[in-house]
Amino acid sequence: MSRLFKRTCMCGEVTEAYIGKEVVINGWVAKARDLGGLIFCDVRDKKGIVQVVFNEDVPADVLEKAGTLRSEFVVGVKGTVRERESINPDIPTGKVEILASDLEIYAKAGTPPIYIKDDDNVDDNLRLKYRYLDLRKKSMQDNLTFRHKLAKLARDYFDENGFTEVETPMLIKPTPEGARDYLVPSRIHHGHFYALPQSPQMFKQLLMVGGTDRYMQIVKCFRDEDLRADRQPEFTQIDLEMSFVDEEDIQTIQEGFIKKVMKELKGMDIETPFPRLTWDEAMERYGSDKPDTRFGFELKKLDALFEEGGALAGTEFKVFNDCLAAGGNIRGICIEGGAAPYTRKKIDKLTEKIRSYGAKGLVWIKKDNGEFTSSVNKFFNAEQLGAIAEVFDAKDGDMILIVSDKAKVTYDALGFLRRHIAGEMGLLDDNQFNYLWVVDFPLYEYSEEEDRYVAMHHPFTSPKLEDLDILESDPGKVKARAYDIVLNGVELGGGSIRIHDRDLQERMFKVLGLGEEEIEEKFGFLVEAFKYGAPPHGGLAYGFDRMVMLLTGQPSIREVIAFPKNQAALCMVSGAPGPAGTDQLEELGLAVTDVEEDAE
Ligand code: AMO
Repeated sequence: MSRLFKRTCMCGEVTEAYIGKEVVINGWVAKARDLGGLIFCDVRDKKGIVQVVFNEDVPADVLEKAGTLRSEFVVGVKGTVRERESINPDIPTGKVEILASDLEIYAKAGTPPIYIKDDDNVDDNLRLKYRYLDLRKKSMQDNLTFRHKLAKLARDYFDENGFTEVETPMLIKPTPEGARDYLVPSRIHHGHFYALPQSPQMFKQLLMVGGTDRYMQIVKCFRDEDLRADRQPEFTQIDLEMSFVDEEDIQTIQEGFIKKVMKELKGMDIETPFPRLTWDEAMERYGSDKPDTRFGFELKKLDALFEEGGALAGTEFKVFNDCLAAGGNIRGICIEGGAAPYTRKKIDKLTEKIRSYGAKGLVWIKKDNGEFTSSVNKFFNAEQLGAIAEVFDAKDGDMILIVSDKAKVTYDALGFLRRHIAGEMGLLDDNQFNYLWVVDFPLYEYSEEEDRYVAMHHPFTSPKLEDLDILESDPGKVKARAYDIVLNGVELGGGSIRIHDRDLQERMFKVLGLGEEEIEEKFGFLVEAFKYGAPPHGGLAYGFDRMVMLLTGQPSIREVIAFPKNQAALCMVSGAPGPAGTDQLEELGLAVTDVEEDAE
């Protein structure tokens, strides 16, 4: 058994202030170099790396032991801090080193399967499999520390504002939200399943009925959906609900929270209130309900030019004319300075990319030296192209991109192009934080797949009171008392004022085409609770992982979760999901009919 050297300070904290002092550090060997009688060794812990030197002044057995040090050995070192000859300006400990007097090797280590440094270019799955090695990187420890600080700040802030953290159940009935549930079979009730919560939505509403007044919870949520950089099957929300409030009250509390987060964790003063954009305006100007406002390229309407009475009405280009006749629209963006970098080949690539949004084509017009080149030269003369360019106030060197299609397709395609091109042109500054609210979402969206209206947010979201008259007659036009908080093009959180009136809730369910039985089955307990006095209430939930990702400038929420799933929803560390044993299945009353042999 090794001796334990009691630590006096962390590796990353050994700065000039320690010169002349004796210290004890514990950590992992990041690098060891034996120069014969002189051994240099970098020792790492979560706070950083410090250089240790063993020379011939240490007892022979210590020098000998130091000679066996290899990367990732776990060690304790005693020594005196001194100034260093060759300074490393890149690290806080770069001006000093520890002249060792004693060494203990707590554990030896095999050659690690991944390099433990930031710019390692290691395959993601390998990083995830050896996550415990990946987590030794200071950058990863910094992410976890930031996450912890944000959680602490959230708890403190909401506590100061009268919120109580309450835990809600993890084994519940299937939730009515959009994604697929993760199911857990019941052993006691064969053929019955719990669902893991997609969010605590109904329970937090019950807490309001129960008089909790202001609820918060940092809570795991589970959704079986396709993964992306900002989606995980299990993720965390800062979940909130308040009684006796309207939209403004909720938004003001949140702005106070974000202001504090930015001040205390980023050292930045940000202005509140945040801009509020209606959903219609967000779609019309940015082609997105989560607009990134760090750059321009706003959408412009071209319909009027081509409609009857417009300057280009009756021109030959069938695509635009047919689209308008079919009730679609024509929108474009102007990429300032885009003419030169966007060669035809690159534009072809953009065209290819927007096919996934349903767009059939992309019209481009470039202006250079007052002249136009375009993909539609055959149909429009210079004057007509000029009329289009005027809508955008296009200058020499600019490139205009136009999509005409069903409204959803034009918005989605141009919304994507705006941000994609801004990324390619290096216009997305990680240190700029543009928060905004998107408000007045549509209450319903039409699901072509199901051939019925579905709730855009969830079925407990209140319609705008002024739209109550058209709830049944024109559901597509009804707006909701729903809002999202958006940061740099990412939906950071979303919420709404809820329906607390039973009659209105029933009308809402009817428009959604939900029968009595389905209502009873899915949310009977909430409807029942509302019989006994529900306060007006509303709330919001932040995607906690997303918030940490954006504030730490990480490209994916995987970087801020200790043990995330990979793209195929596998836990590479533990190998989950795994098959269940026959006994276990029998106990649960289950039989498996289709098995994937090896999920990995
Ligand atoms: P919503 O479904 O909008 O609302 O979720 C709230 C926030 O959670 C984050 N989020 C995710 N983060 C990572 N991975 C995922 N798979 C994932 N899905 C969602 C997003 C999102 O804005 N109960 C309502 C809130 C309410 O009405 O109060 C809800 O869950 O940042």
